[in-house]
Amino acid sequence: MQIHATVSELRHALKQRGRIVFVPTMGNLHAGHLSLMRQARSHGDTVVASIFVNRLQFGPHEDFDSYPRTFEADCAHLREAAVDILFAPTEADLYPEPQQYHVDPPPIQSQLEGEFRPGHFRGVATVVLKLFNIVQPHAALFGKKDYQQLMILRNMVRQLALPIEIIGGEIVRAEDGLALSSRNAYLKAEERAEAARLNRVLHQIKAAIQAGRRDFSQLERDAMAELDAHGWKTDYVAIRRQADLQEPQPGDRTLVILAASRLGTPRLIDNLEVIADSA
Ligand code: PAF
Repeated sequence: MQIHATVSELRHALKQRGRIVFVPTMGNLHAGHLSLMRQARSHGDTVVASIFVNRLQFGPHEDFDSYPRTFEADCAHLREAAVDILFAPTEADLYPEPQQYHVDPPPIQSQLEGEFRPGHFRGVATVVLKLFNIVQPHAALFGKKDYQQLMILRNMVRQLALPIEIIGGEIVRAEDGLALSSRNAYLKAEERAEAARLNRVLHQIKAAIQAGRRDFSQLERDAMAELDAHGWKTDYVAIRRQADLQEPQPGDRTLVILAASRLGTPRLIDNLEVIADSA
């Protein structure tokens, strides 16, 4: 695997590489990322990964400084996953001058995750567009665990007419259903056992919708109450339309249940797609 830190080195290395498939990450790689890398292999000739902890997408009170940086272990994982090229710029490489031009996503950026992480999706969209301009991939993969991120980036690519295919990778879960995440490392042992409840609650809502329930607000409230009764501090449980993450209208069937809740230190997110049976 080649490792490049500068834009010019990377651009040189990417000449005549056929169809390039790109998987951007912030490092601290787990099985979820590696499944994206392996999936990437089947979509093109050259797999490029990036590791860059992007300051722009962290709020002032978020964990930018303490975000786990595990570069050597990440490289070993990427080699095992047969990644061809790793782009690992420093902040000075990627932001040699203060970034004054930004991508400002539509109002969905201020809902769900965006309500609790103001500016987050602006930071994500800005860095991803910049990485796309540097790597110029034919396709890029993002995990469905960050469902809202995937939707915002998909729409950015479509509306800005970028010639990039966006592919969503399925969530990789531990045996008890907990979605893999870099932030799971912050869970204490007893919290780790409790953490699987988040996914169970999403499955309960899914079963209720499939059984015909359409009182979505009540389902959301019940789920939040169940989590909070077990020591969680829940930001939201929301049933939305998959396509645009807006509230479902009568007749909408292609839905997703999204949740974010804090258990001890880490804030965990998860989601579950559901097709509501027609009434
Ligand atoms: O999902 C992530 O790890 C980040 O948000 C991304 C897409 C690499 C942008 O920094």
